[in-house]
Amino acid sequence: MQIAIVTGASSGIGKEFVFQLTKAYRNLDEIWVIARREERLVELQKKLPLKLRILTYDLTEEGSITALKELLAEEKPQIKVLVNSSGFGKRGYFEENSYEDIKGMIDLNCRSLTEITYVCIPYMSKGSRIIQLASSAAFMPQPNFAVYSASKSFVFSFSRALRRELSGKGIYVTTVCPGPVRTEFFGIADSECPRPMFKDAFMADPVKVVSKAIRDSHKKKEYSIYGGVMKAFYVLSKAAPHRVLIFFADKFFS
Ligand SMILES: NC(=O)c1ccc[n+]([C@@H]2O[C@H](COP(=O)([O-])OP(=O)(O)OC[C@H]3O[C@@H](n4cnc5c(N)ncnc54)[C@H](OP(=O)(O)O)[C@@H]3O)[C@@H](O)[C@H]2O)c1
Repeated sequence: MQIAIVTGASSGIGKEFVFQLTKAYRNLDEIWVIARREERLVELQKKLPLKLRILTYDLTEEGSITALKELLAEEKPQIKVLVNSSGFGKRGYFEENSYEDIKGMIDLNCRSLTEITYVCIPYMSKGSRIIQLASSAAFMPQPNFAVYSASKSFVFSFSRALRRELSGKGIYVTTVCPGPVRTEFFGIADSECPRPMFKDAFMADPVKVVSKAIRDSHKKKEYSIYGGVMKAFYVLSKAAPHRVLIFFADKFFS
């Protein structure tokens, strides 16, 4: 059985991946979709010809990875694509963030992504793809979004090294680093701290971000950055001293 696995499939970027993978990968037998909101995943199934395996997991609970591992051992599928899209961020100064949110961001964005990748690799083979959702927030430390940006730097760093390790097996890892994308993400991110106005000017369409990510993954690219402004930000974050960028980010953009 050939499958794709998509986490965070109930909304935003993950949901869009499910739609687009159905068209991009004609030989899939199932897409395994992971999120907490079961009703959203059931609705998604109604819109798709391909069978979805609905896995209602809370990925911050360690038992969820064990459940996935056991299901993989039972079904022994060939995983053609893994998309790790579940994630959240909570804006605000670190000491004002709740402990629950801080732990949740690290647990979901870093620990669960790493563990899912680990349990899936044994079911991948030459030509399989791993698509990891990082963020442009990974490019440099961001005051007022410190834990989120650090968690995405983890994803970026881990995934680039993993790409090298897996290249001999013909398994390709692409890390997706979007700037702001129009999804439910901001309902959570900005719930206790308003988002900087400039972000609205760069808000991207999830359809375009995902379409570029799938194209870049096919081309075996190391990373996928949608839009000229975010590409320029990436170059700037590599060229300019982070001490200076962090100062300006805190003063004018947080
Ligand atoms: N939107 C942006 O501006 C933006 C920019 C750069 C990077 N990203 C990254 O892109 C990814 C997708 O974000 P998005 O914009 O699509 O946000 P979104 O619309 O809020 O979707 C987040 C997804 O994560 C799932 N999720 C959240 N907590 C979970 C948990 N404990 N267990 C399992 N699933 C959980 C949600 O499903 P349930 O609530 O149903 O569990 C939902 O499907 C994230 O990693 C985000 O950091 C987003």
